[in-house]
Amino acid sequence: MLQQPSPTQFSWIKSTLFIVCLIPLARLAILGVTGGLGANPIEFITRSTGTWTLVFLLIALSVTPLRRLLEMPWLLKLRRMFGLYAFFYALLHFLTYIWLDQFFSPEDIIKDVLKRPFITIGFTSFMLLIPLAVTSTNAMIKRMGGKNWQQLHRFVYAIAVGGVVHYWWLVKKDVTQPQIYAAVLALLLGIRLVFLWRKHNAATNNSKN
Ligand code: HEM
Repeated sequence: MLQQPSPTQFSWIKSTLFIVCLIPLARLAILGVTGGLGANPIEFITRSTGTWTLVFLLIALSVTPLRRLLEMPWLLKLRRMFGLYAFFYALLHFLTYIWLDQFFSPEDIIKDVLKRPFITIGFTSFMLLIPLAVTSTNAMIKRMGGKNWQQLHRFVYAIAVGGVVHYWWLVKKDVTQPQIYAAVLALLLGIRLVFLWRKHNAATNNSKN
């Protein structure tokens, strides 16, 4: 267990992580100006931003298990930042697709969303992510009420599953990478089920006593 950091230490941790989370974007920018994006820069950017969306979703989902297993409640204060970074990279991923891949053509986008199942599920996951990002502020939590807010934010599980399926379906041959993401997600969701089961057992035992 790591001791509760002081407000100054916490602010340092948060600021450092905030900058670290920007490294994937900085890398893309540097590769872009130095001509390092390879023969197909659009594919490179799409794949990179897609990967980071999934990684940040999984990081955000690992906050609750980690804070409970390591007894570090303060980790919760970092969850929103990771969630918003997931949204940020998803937005870049989506913009790359609609701008550089589909040239802002609504007909082509609609056709593609309806035609290719991996795009359908990626698109749906992104649409579900928008209300979570919009309601991530303290004012919104207050306005919605904690319970409603929590219920809405449970969509993150479906979004993460959607993200993994999206990846799995787009890979043509070697599915090792999506399998690894699926295993990590299964572990994170599995830990939550164990927590729920323990809570349920504790409540039943209490009501018996
Ligand atoms: C939560 C939402 C999403 C997640 C987590 C996600 C994740 C990913 C991942 C992990 C990849 C593969 C990266 C790699 O090959 O290394 C990818 C690729 C891709 N995604 Fe997404 N994505 C999301 C939403 C979307 C949306 C909304 C669209 C477009 C409507 C989209 C279109 C694509 C395309 C075109 C590729 C590249 C396919 C290829 O190179 O063959 N994704 N995405």
